[in-house]
Amino acid sequence: MTQSYPATRLRRSRATAWSRAMHRETCLTADNLIWPLFVTEGDGVEEPVSSLPGVSRWSLDGIAARAREAVELGIPCLALFPNTQPERRSDDGAEALNPDNLMCRAIRAIRDACGDSIGILTDVALDPYTEHGQDGLMDNGGYVMNDATVEVLVKQSLNQALAGADIIAPSDMMDGRIGAIRQALEDDGQHNVQIMSYAAKYASAFYGPFRDAVGSRGLLKGDKKNYQMDPANAEEALREVALDLSEGADSVMVKPGLPYLDIVARVKERFEVPVFAYQVSGEYAMIEAAIAAGAGDREALVMETLTCFRRAGCAGILTYHAPLAARLLNG
Ligand code: PBG
Repeated sequence: MTQSYPATRLRRSRATAWSRAMHRETCLTADNLIWPLFVTEGDGVEEPVSSLPGVSRWSLDGIAARAREAVELGIPCLALFPNTQPERRSDDGAEALNPDNLMCRAIRAIRDACGDSIGILTDVALDPYTEHGQDGLMDNGGYVMNDATVEVLVKQSLNQALAGADIIAPSDMMDGRIGAIRQALEDDGQHNVQIMSYAAKYASAFYGPFRDAVGSRGLLKGDKKNYQMDPANAEEALREVALDLSEGADSVMVKPGLPYLDIVARVKERFEVPVFAYQVSGEYAMIEAAIAAGAGDREALVMETLTCFRRAGCAGILTYHAPLAARLLNG
C-alpha cells in the first residue's frame, strides 16, 4: 500500500531564511514609526519617567538632539507632549494658547535643528495644561463641556500650526472638533497642515505611565469615560472614524494599539484611508516588565508587536520603542 502524502506542504516555503523573506506579506521599516517625546523645562535636563523605564522627559536641547537622532535613524515623524509646570496649569488650560509655551518652543527647537527633514505631530487636548487633568473645560458638575472645549482646541491648534507643527493630532474626543479645526486652519491659510485624528480613542487603563510623564496623573479627578470610548465598542469606532473623515481628517488613529488591532483592521477594511495606531505607555511598560521578569527577549517582542500592527493594516505606529526598532531595522 502506498502512503499518501499531503500535496500542499505550507512548511516548504518556511524551510529557509531566503524563502521566508520571499514569502513575507508584511514589511516594517523605519518609515512606519512615529516617536513620542516628552518635553520639560530647563537646560541639559533629562528626567527619567519611572513607570516608563528607558523613557525620559527632555529639555529643549535634548529634544533637538532626539530629533537629530530620529533623522539619522530614518524616523519620519515625532509626536510631542509637554510636561507643563504646575504653576502654569489652570482650570481653563490657558497655557495651551500661549505662543511661547513648552510645546511651541519644542516645535521651534526641532525646526531649528532639523529644518523640514522631520515631521512634527502635536497633540491637541487640554490635559497637560489643566489643573484637573481633564482634556477639556469642565462645568460646575465636573462634566467636560463639548462645544466650549472645541473653541479652545481650535485656538490651541492654530497656536501649534503657527509655531510650525506639520500634523495636528486632536486626542480629546470632543464631537465636531475636526471640522472646526480644519475650517480654522483653512481660514488662516494653513492649507497643508494635516490633521491626524485620534478618531477611536478608548477610555483605557493603559494610559497610566503617560499621565506620569506629562504630570497629570495625580491631578486627574475621576475618569474620561464621558468622552473617550468604551472598550466594549467597535461599531461606534467606525462611526467615529466616518465622522472625522467627513469633517476633514487626513488620517485616523486607533488607540491603544495591541488590544485594539481588530478595530484597526475593520477601519482599514471599511474606509481605505491611512490608519495609525498608538502603542501606548501601558503597553510599552507591559513589554518592558515582561523583559525585566525574564519572560521574553526585548528585540523579538518589539519587532513582533510592531510587525503585527502593520499586518493589521497600520500605515504607522506611535511607539516609545521607535528608536530601538529603527536601529534594529537599519541593522
Ligand atoms: C491626552 C493623551 C493621552 C495619551 C495621549 N494623549 C492620555 C489620556 O487620554 O489620558 C496617552 C498616550 C500613552 O499612554 O502613551 N489627551
